[in-house]
Amino acid sequence: MATKLGHGLRTALQSPIIAVLGVVSLAQPLLEATGLLAAPAPPEEDLRGKRVLVTGATAGIGLATAARLARMGAEVVVTGRDEARLAAAVQTVAGGRGRVTGEVLDLCALASVRACAARLGAFDVVVLNAGTNANVPTAEHADLPGCSLVFGVNFVAQWLLLKLLDLRPGARVVCLSSVSHHSADAATFGTLGADYAESKLAMILLARAISRGDFGAGLLGVAVNPGAVDSHIWRHVWFPASALFAGFSRLAFLSSDEGSATSVFAAAAPAARLPRTDDGLPAYLAPFWQPPRGPGRSAFEYLSVFAGARPAFARLPRDERAAADRLWAACARLVGAI
Ligand SMILES: NC(=O)c1ccc[n+]([C@@H]2O[C@H](COP(=O)([O-])OP(=O)(O)OC[C@H]3O[C@@H](n4cnc5c(N)ncnc54)[C@H](OP(=O)(O)O)[C@@H]3O)[C@@H](O)[C@H]2O)c1
Repeated sequence: MATKLGHGLRTALQSPIIAVLGVVSLAQPLLEATGLLAAPAPPEEDLRGKRVLVTGATAGIGLATAARLARMGAEVVVTGRDEARLAAAVQTVAGGRGRVTGEVLDLCALASVRACAARLGAFDVVVLNAGTNANVPTAEHADLPGCSLVFGVNFVAQWLLLKLLDLRPGARVVCLSSVSHHSADAATFGTLGADYAESKLAMILLARAISRGDFGAGLLGVAVNPGAVDSHIWRHVWFPASALFAGFSRLAFLSSDEGSATSVFAAAAPAARLPRTDDGLPAYLAPFWQPPRGPGRSAFEYLSVFAGARPAFARLPRDERAAADRLWAACARLVGAI
């Protein structure tokens, strides 16, 4: 409750900054179209010999991420819950240099998660990208009693997938977070009260725990905010506002390809090039320019000048390690035997 109130106050204070940044974001595509500004792209790495998994790759950022990683030569496995959309995604991604296969994975069903993990084999890179923001506060995940649908799909089911996967030595795990994590309340993790924001904070805690060695020695986790991206995820915006919103997002938000830039950098950059925080763990990354410090800096994570993957400020719970331990315990209780 206190966290939500704090977020409400912060948002009110940041609103003027966000409004100005919205205008800046509208100007950027114009500057790019006239050649005055170049859109940044992640550097091309040679990923031949690497095996990569991208969840939720049938649309949006996941599809664009898979396509870019395949162009860099990786063998890419894309997942989706709908066979027809999955087949179409494999076709789209198959234009790259690397081999591409599709695997059915429905994060609403734990049996699907377990069956998918059993078929998958070993990976060098896993991008936990799948997500929904259909925030119906009362909707419960069918296989996770007492846990919200959104938190279950966005986090718990992908936590289970990760626990079941075979990760090669030195493997990298990219965890899709969001600016929304700033309003999360870690006390509600794993319950019906946990929604999109909590699922995205959980992704940051997961990435940091992976890098600390909690999921196996030598692994690296990187949390990313892809930025405000014009994708299907916004289809749940309330109807009367939806047409207006769709127009604004088409003009001011990043395209899915631009939105994949941060995930691709996190997945493909050599470990030595990943920015680190003071504690030595890989930094939370976002694609927008942001002042290095100051109370308003998280406003720049909503919308700002698209500048490519760069370290951003993650709002961690004060008792991060204890909150993470409570989260793993809640996940273990919800999924049962692993
Ligand atoms: N777009 C943004 O502005 C934004 C900002 C911050 C963070 N993000 C994060 O970026 C990630 C990608 O989002 P996006 O914008 O690319 O959204 P999107 O276009 O809606 O794509 C989401 C992907 O997740 C899949 N998915 C959703 N529910 C699933 C389920 N129950 N089981 C299996 N797959 C499921 C979708 O599959 P279907 O095609 O079957 O629905 C789709 O492939 C998400 O984690 C999101 O939270 C996005």
